[in-house]
Amino acid sequence: SRSIRLAVIPGDGIGPEVVAQGLKVLTAVLPSDTKLETQEYDLGARRWHATGETLPDAELESLKQHDAILLGAIGDPGVPSGVLERGLLLKLRFAFDHYVNLRPSRLHPTAETPLAGRPDIDFVVVREGTEGPYTGNGGSLRTGTPAEVATEVSVNTAYGVERVVRDAYERAQARPRKKLTLVHKNNVLVHAGHLWKNIFDRVGREYPEVTTDYLHVDAATIFFVTQPERFDVIVTDNLFGDILTDLAAAITGGIGLAASGNINPSGAFPSMFEPVHGSAPDIAGTGKADPTATVLSVALLLRHLGLDTEADRVEAAVAEDLAARDGSPRTTDQIGDALAALVSRAAG
Ligand code: IPM
Ligand code: MN
Repeated sequence: SRSIRLAVIPGDGIGPEVVAQGLKVLTAVLPSDTKLETQEYDLGARRWHATGETLPDAELESLKQHDAILLGAIGDPGVPSGVLERGLLLKLRFAFDHYVNLRPSRLHPTAETPLAGRPDIDFVVVREGTEGPYTGNGGSLRTGTPAEVATEVSVNTAYGVERVVRDAYERAQARPRKKLTLVHKNNVLVHAGHLWKNIFDRVGREYPEVTTDYLHVDAATIFFVTQPERFDVIVTDNLFGDILTDLAAAITGGIGLAASGNINPSGAFPSMFEPVHGSAPDIAGTGKADPTATVLSVALLLRHLGLDTEADRVEAAVAEDLAARDGSPRTTDQIGDALAALVSRAAG
């Protein structure tokens, strides 16, 4: 028998609503000899309004003691832009060295996509999670004057690039199509771009079975729309990955279905799983939020913890639930109940 110590950060807006469904499905799918111990953390906009705190050191230390973290969504319009993004979400990704930001995209048969012809889409973006323009390495001079200068310097280290590129090759190697595409902009961002391309080519020699490809990020956005079936695994930097994965969500049924894992593959720190979407304050409390992205993030969590059978069952339940959708409205809770019933039936 084993136990999973799970830290839960429900957060703001629809965060608590979708997290409740994620936990419902997780509880339903776990084998009876596996004990789930959850600890909730009150972090996010509500906490910041109440105390001015984003992520105190004591809580960061306490979060470290868990096997994984499930996060709902953070933020509301009353918090200045950047406070919770930098002070909470990115602080967690950096402190726990979540260098693999894993974002799979799959088009399910009934999901709505703006793409004509319904191509087969099944790819995964491996977005670097700890470097690039996200490091906060910048500043401004002569602030507020007509002569103001602002910089955001993208940080790319050989160490940081190689480890995420290697992870992407491993993932490509393990998939049937074994194809890996590097996305960057090395015709303009020549310093970082060449570092990425050189490491990509060098590491690639260790993976002769993996077919490789390179695309500039602007061209990649065209192919996401015109030929998304060409992608299998994509590796890219933090900011390009941020933008591409919103587009990936848009072409595969929307942000309500997009899951992500912030992964520290070494296991030195807990990995964190969260839907790609935000706190959606406009629909909070209405029961309209689709918990599927959170449930699919739970599947990534299960896989990360080595519970592959359970992860498969959660993904199969989502596929079955999506296939049965006929457009009649269901509440957040009803979708969670349906998914929990599907994974329990598979277990029985
Ligand atoms: C995401 C979000 C975050 C990011 C923001 C909220 C900091 O857009 O998870 O994609 O840019 O990484
Ligand atoms: Mn984003």
